[in-house]
Amino acid sequence: MKALVYGGPGEKSWKDVPDPRLAGPRDAIVRVDAVTICGTDLHILGGDVPEVRPGRILGHEAVGTVMSVGAGVGNLAEGDRVLASCISACGVCRFCREGRYGQCLGGGGWILGHTVDGVQAEYARIPFADLSTYRLPASVPDEAAVLLADILPTSYEVGVLNGGVTPGDTVVVVGAGPIGLAAIQTAKLFSPSRIVVVDKAQSRLEAAKLFGADLTLRPEDEPLEAVRAVTDGLGADVVIEAVGTPATFELCATLVRPGGRLANVGVHGSPATLHLEQLWIRDVTITTGLVDTRTTPKLLDMLVAGQFDTAQMVTHRFALGEIEQAYDVFSRPAETGALKVVLSRG
Ligand SMILES: NC(=O)c1ccc[n+]([C@@H]2O[C@H](COP(=O)([O-])OP(=O)(O)OC[C@H]3O[C@@H](n4cnc5c(N)ncnc54)[C@H](O)[C@@H]3O)[C@@H](O)[C@H]2O)c1
Ligand SMILES: [Zn+2]
Ligand SMILES: [Zn+2]
Repeated sequence: MKALVYGGPGEKSWKDVPDPRLAGPRDAIVRVDAVTICGTDLHILGGDVPEVRPGRILGHEAVGTVMSVGAGVGNLAEGDRVLASCISACGVCRFCREGRYGQCLGGGGWILGHTVDGVQAEYARIPFADLSTYRLPASVPDEAAVLLADILPTSYEVGVLNGGVTPGDTVVVVGAGPIGLAAIQTAKLFSPSRIVVVDKAQSRLEAAKLFGADLTLRPEDEPLEAVRAVTDGLGADVVIEAVGTPATFELCATLVRPGGRLANVGVHGSPATLHLEQLWIRDVTITTGLVDTRTTPKLLDMLVAGQFDTAQMVTHRFALGEIEQAYDVFSRPAETGALKVVLSRG
């Protein structure tokens, strides 16, 4: 089969690799029908995630069709259409028993396209397939379903729920990539008074407006003054960091009001300064997190009920074999206007 293989920082290629095979009783082999690219894949290619070794097939967000299952997978059968989630779960370790699947100690967690081969391929092996896939109702198209593999649960759990958004809040989202845009949509479930979005790319700020941002700012627009101006000088109740750079994390820490919450979502590859000399007196809570995908079933219900407008999230469509071109488009959003790019089996 063909797959997108990481070759070290800055290197990737779509090439022939051996077909995946069942390696354990809880594995499934899935034919990839739709797959997408994540900002995290760009971090990997930037060298920010050194555990990803050259030779690894990338990708952790897909919809596919089950081709075969191991003897221990009782809940899936050949032909089932499933979401392959970015998080795998052994289900029995201490953290899985707490619903903290991202921290799985039994060989799960974020493994696809990280520590085992991922789903940017014609076929993929899904470990712990019984607990790491979700059967999809026919009413949910591939393009909408693939957003449930990572960006909706991540923005919801690590951004909105960790940030504790409540009605009437002023929410600032720094970074209007797919994660930041999904954070706008999922924050709106809690009726915030206003959502302020900061991004350096004009195309992304325009997308943020489409997704419901009330105020959009570039980093050079003095976000601190702008946020204070709309909050009677207080600052934001909740700030969600959805970029993953020292500068954006440090900006977030200035925007949060006393007693507020800063929810970090971004994947960081280098240290950021925590200005405790300013924060200690402000009663600020800072959260970090890897998505657990514990909310995926509920988000799927909401998708079926039409609570998210997913149509505007997918801006570019490619055939699977055009994945290098898709990476190029996705990595230059300022010029291409790309949000989520979806690759489909021809
Ligand atoms: N914690 C988790 O479980 C988890 C899961 C998935 C993704 N992530 C991370 O979330 C982050 C966002 O993901 P994405 O797919 O939306 O990525 P993305 O690369 O598509 O979006 C990042 C956005 O940040 C903007 N940006 C970059 N530098 C900026 C700056 N200095 N000031 C303002 N804006 C700036 C870019 O213009 C872009 O719109 C990434 O770091 C990704 O790795 C975390
Ligand atoms: Zn991701
Ligand atoms: Zn586990």
